[in-house]
Amino acid sequence: MTDQTLYPVPERWAERAYIDADRYAEWYRKSLDDPDGFWGEQADRLDWIRRFTKVKNTSFAYPDITIKWFEDGTLNVSANCIDRHLADRAEQTAIIFEPDSPDETPRHITYRELHDQVSRLANVLKERGVRRGDRVTIYLPMIPEAAFAMLACARIGATHSVVFGGFSPDSLAGRIEDCRSTFLITADEGLRGGKPVPLKANADKAVERAAAEGVNVKSVLVVRRTGGTVEMKEGRDLWFHEEVARASADCPPVEMGAEDPLFILYTSGSTGKPKGVLHTTGGYLLYAAMTHRIVFDYHDGNVYWCAADVGWVTGHSYVVYGPLANGATTLMFEGVPNWPTPARIWEVVDRHGVNTLYTAPTAIRSLMGAGNDYVQQTSRKSLRLLGTVGEPINPEAWHWYHHVVGEDRCPIMDTWWQTETGGHMITPLPGATALKPGSATLPFFGIRPVLVDGEGHALEGAGDGNLCIADSWPGQMRTVYGDHKRFVETYFALYKGKYFTGDGCRRDADGYYWITGRVDDVLNVSGHRLGTAEVESSLVAHPKVSEAAVVGYPHDLKGQGIYCYVTLMEGEEPSDELKKELRDWVRRDIGPIASPDQIQFSPGLPKTRSGKIMRRILRKIAEDDYSNLGDTSTLADPGVVDNLVGNRQNRR
Ligand code: WT7
Repeated sequence: MTDQTLYPVPERWAERAYIDADRYAEWYRKSLDDPDGFWGEQADRLDWIRRFTKVKNTSFAYPDITIKWFEDGTLNVSANCIDRHLADRAEQTAIIFEPDSPDETPRHITYRELHDQVSRLANVLKERGVRRGDRVTIYLPMIPEAAFAMLACARIGATHSVVFGGFSPDSLAGRIEDCRSTFLITADEGLRGGKPVPLKANADKAVERAAAEGVNVKSVLVVRRTGGTVEMKEGRDLWFHEEVARASADCPPVEMGAEDPLFILYTSGSTGKPKGVLHTTGGYLLYAAMTHRIVFDYHDGNVYWCAADVGWVTGHSYVVYGPLANGATTLMFEGVPNWPTPARIWEVVDRHGVNTLYTAPTAIRSLMGAGNDYVQQTSRKSLRLLGTVGEPINPEAWHWYHHVVGEDRCPIMDTWWQTETGGHMITPLPGATALKPGSATLPFFGIRPVLVDGEGHALEGAGDGNLCIADSWPGQMRTVYGDHKRFVETYFALYKGKYFTGDGCRRDADGYYWITGRVDDVLNVSGHRLGTAEVESSLVAHPKVSEAAVVGYPHDLKGQGIYCYVTLMEGEEPSDELKKELRDWVRRDIGPIASPDQIQFSPGLPKTRSGKIMRRILRKIAEDDYSNLGDTSTLADPGVVDNLVGNRQNRR
């Protein structure tokens, strides 16, 4: 059962926060009743080159989806994140860089230095032929150069596509091909937990594969991070530091339309290859900046740390764009939470006087498992606010975060949102919302959550359903890059007139929202999204595999683990070695986050007479829940299920 303990808003928070309960109610009503008026005012958070005359132009009427915000306004994202702060805070730290090793000296990059670095890099891109609208792929570790690269693209109107450094050469190649990107920024090696990650070598393979598919990467800009030996291809590969050093530091930001693309970010869906989520300039930046300011109640001088990687949307909105648009000090951490010891996170908090920490339930659970001593040997006095994102947080982890880490002093913002939404959608506000452990609580301004049943009927009051959003908000994705039909079909076809999130959700009697997890074939492994179809297609590409079905199952640390049912080719024998081989195969093919947790060899899979795999049954077996396998009479061969259950139970 869920925890119904209520944590009222601490008085000091109600007093000092931007938004208290009354203002939340007032603004929320206005945001729904008069979106043009509300968002038109909020848009003053940004510097516009040409002020818009039109605020909202949106429709979810299938199939003619229109999503335009501030459409005749113009602005530049990098000017909003850098140049406009120079008058007041040129010498303030914009980015604190905490390297992988605690023995390496951290870096403090001021807004003036950020301006210099980004302008030079933007000039390098221009000199090498990158034009407005071109796609630039960024495959970097969590180093400041990743933020420089994103902002340099924004400065000249190029569209960036950041690919997480943990992805394989094939995954990188697929993303380069999909958006036909001809410029790549990478590093010699990444560093995580003391171990090098061969980014340049991976990039070389990816570039080769993309070329075979007809996409020719013309330049590869390489950051020297570790100094490890890498091959530099004459005429194609350039050292980042050399190019930046000789480039001019004068690069005026270009005037972009509010609806011009800012970035593409690939994310997994329930079918097919990852899709390129496209975000645009004005609405996205406003939404990232406003949510960062209000949800974290960011005030000048605070030190803010979002521990996500820039390879995910959390890193885009809450490491780079939101904080920098607000003139904040944002910390970038290159390493991992439990290296050299599970005290690392708390040591970094003390070292830099972090006031706000935003991380994922999976990290909280793993640090909780390491024991309280690691936490209690540090001070953490600077902490005022905690945040979580990525998956539902179990009450035990919530209480530990609140009590042991925050010493009952720091409210926890459990923020529900998605790559597609650009920023927080359902979230508490520290001065306004009483907390319930495990609930993302209430909608942000302008957000109209709707729970629907299987037929698409909206539920009133308390109940369980599929979570949809009834109207657009400025941070919403605009399309799937290169495949608008997929965008319309994925999000707007099932429940007409609404955006479907793919999540299940419960609303309680107080109107609080409790996300129950994905209701589609998307896994959430350690807060990372993964399509079962991607893992399946990787497995069946192995010469010994004839068929595969992949489902999620509850996993103590990861939230969900990856359970694979594998049918081998005629004549192949199941073995532990083969399991290891398949596990390595998927890791190499997609990346370590896709590594199967369990593989069960199964001579057959439960299918309907029309050949459809019955995943519901496979999920139950993976969860060890045999009580309610449901009606198996429609199966082509009901014996398959007994066989699977027998094999599963024998192994326990
Ligand atoms: C999916 C989106 C948005 C940043 C990180 C993940 C799950 C996200 C929560 C939360 C319960 C959550 C949902 C969502 N999710 N935050 N606070 N409580 N579930 O972005 O990779 O696009 O994944 O993550 O299932 O649909 P993403």
